[in-house]
Amino acid sequence: MTQPGRLISFEGIDGSGKSTQARRLAEHLRDTGRDPILTREPGGSPDAEDIRRLLVEGDPDRWSPETELLLFTAARRDHLERLIQPALAEGRDVITDRFADSTRVYQGATRGDLRALVDQLHSLMIGREPDLTFVIDMPPELALTRGLARASGEDRFEEFGLPFQTALRAGFLDLARANPDRCVVIDGNRPEAEVAADVIAHLTVAA
Ligand code: ADP
Ligand code: TYD
Repeated sequence: MTQPGRLISFEGIDGSGKSTQARRLAEHLRDTGRDPILTREPGGSPDAEDIRRLLVEGDPDRWSPETELLLFTAARRDHLERLIQPALAEGRDVITDRFADSTRVYQGATRGDLRALVDQLHSLMIGREPDLTFVIDMPPELALTRGLARASGEDRFEEFGLPFQTALRAGFLDLARANPDRCVVIDGNRPEAEVAADVIAHLTVAA
C-alpha cells in the first residue's frame, strides 16, 4: 500500500516570505526525488481560485467577517476534495501556502471575534490539520513593505494596515505556542537561503 503523503503548510502575515519558502521547499523535495504538489489558499483548485478572486480583490470592507469565513471555508473544501486529498492518497507531499490557521487568525481573532464559529465550521467541513506547519515570523513593518512592493492587485488584506498586521503576527505566534506538535516558528527576517535552510532542517527532524 502507498504511504500517504504529508500535508505541510506555510503560515504568517502578508509579505513574510511564505510563497518564496513554499516554492523553495518544493524544489528541495524534487531534488531529493519526491514529487510534491505546491499549492496555495485561498485557491489551489480551479473553482477555489474563482472564489479567491472574490476575496482578495475589491474594497477592504467588501465582505463582513462572517461572509468571508464562509467563502474561505468553501474554497478550502473544494481544494481539499479536488486536489489535496487525492494527492496525499497517491503518496505525494502537498505543500500549501496558507491553510486553516490563516482562517483561525484572520477571521477568528482579528476580523471579529469569530473563533468559536471558525472552529465549528472547520470540524464540520474540513476536519484535517497539516502534519507540519511553518510559521514564518517577521516584523510587520518590513513584511508590509515587501508585500506592497509587489503591487499584485491582491492587496485587499494588506490595505487593512499596520495595526492589523501586528495583531495577525501575535495571533500566529499564539497559535504556534498552542500547537507545538505540528508548528515550527521560523525567523523570516533573514536572507532567503538562510530561511530555506532552517525550514529544511526542521523538516528533516519532524518527518
Ligand atoms: P508572502 O507569500 O508571505 O506574501 P512572498 O514570498 O511573496 O511573501 O515575499 C514577499 C516579497 O518579499 C517578494 O517580493 C519576495 O521576493 C521578497 N522576499 C521573500 N523572502 C525574502 C527574504 N528572506 N528577504 C528579502 N526579501 C524576500
Ligand atoms: P495570500 O495570497 O497568501 O496573501 P499574501 O501573499 O499577501 O500573504 O492570501 C490572500 C489573503 O487572504 C491574505 O491577506 C490572507 C487572507 N486569508 C484569510 O483572511 N483567511 C484565510 O483563511 C486565508 C487562506 C487567507
